[in-house]
Amino acid sequence: MSANINSIKEEIESYLVSNQEELEQYRQRFIGRKNILASLFAEMKNIPAEQRKEYGQQINELKEAATVKFQELIQSLEDEQSVGQEKHPDLTLPPQPDTLGGIHPLSATRSEIIRIFERIGFNVSEGPEIEDDWHNFTALNFPENHPAREMQDTFFIRKKPDIALRTHTSSVQVRVMESERPPIRTLSPGRVYRNEAISARAHCVFHQVEGLFIDEGVSFADLKQTLYYFVKELFGKQTKVRFRPSYFPFTEPSAEMDITCIICGGEGCNICKHTGWVEIGGAGMVDPQVLENSGIDSKKYSGFAFGMGIERITMLKYQIRDLRLFTENDVRFLRQFSSLT
Ligand code: PHE
Repeated sequence: MSANINSIKEEIESYLVSNQEELEQYRQRFIGRKNILASLFAEMKNIPAEQRKEYGQQINELKEAATVKFQELIQSLEDEQSVGQEKHPDLTLPPQPDTLGGIHPLSATRSEIIRIFERIGFNVSEGPEIEDDWHNFTALNFPENHPAREMQDTFFIRKKPDIALRTHTSSVQVRVMESERPPIRTLSPGRVYRNEAISARAHCVFHQVEGLFIDEGVSFADLKQTLYYFVKELFGKQTKVRFRPSYFPFTEPSAEMDITCIICGGEGCNICKHTGWVEIGGAGMVDPQVLENSGIDSKKYSGFAFGMGIERITMLKYQIRDLRLFTENDVRFLRQFSSLT
């Protein structure tokens, strides 16, 4: 009899099923009401009394093994079905697109400014954010210990010789003038640093685009015409530009550029503080000494330069009232620009 028990045990252990039908066959044979174990239980009365206990134990173990195996077989069928699903994905299901990030408004403005100037022959140059005194100040006519250096609250990294975070991208223009010969038409966009308290209108890290044009016979009229073209392309044809006299160590004459307030069209509102005008940057004719400092013959060549803040232009363009929004990475703010390219 125990040979019979052993062969049933082996049969259970090695049983395999590949579909529901075979699973059902297993169930009927080992678990169902008239299963094979039931007949073994029925044999019990024919077993000599002294072996009965052991026999009963063996059948009980067999019964237990049959139930455990049944659960395993159910599981193996389920696993097989899910593997099958991976092999044959349902191509009729609707797609689930990945959510894509958008372009940051500052990057969009930067690209737009570059595209406008590229159309009139400007290229793009970049330079280091950690700058030496020569490229950030001295070559640009900031005399040593001159108060003009205090116009830009500098973050110094090292003193004597001075190494600092660049306070403007004019430093890149010096590098271009040192390494290239006129005609030069270049834009230098980039991150700049000034030691300012962070508020809705100021930040210690911001972005500039500066431009430089050097050739024979370049005049202030060229500067004005270039900036008129730029402002109309960026803000629309109705926008007017005005220049106010100003001072920068590296340009002479120097000017501050204003445009008619794009919110009220020049009527006066709280964005333009009821003047009808908003400032967008500085400009001027490159001081001959600055050309000479970089090895360009100032008798033969002249040029103009301009610079503006990308944050400021972006704020005007999209009517953003707080500069801190650009760096907080709040997706509710950023999602409003998801259509920008
Ligand atoms: N470099 C100046 C600044 O950062 C801007 C500027 C550039 C002014 C070129 C005139 C000419 O404030």
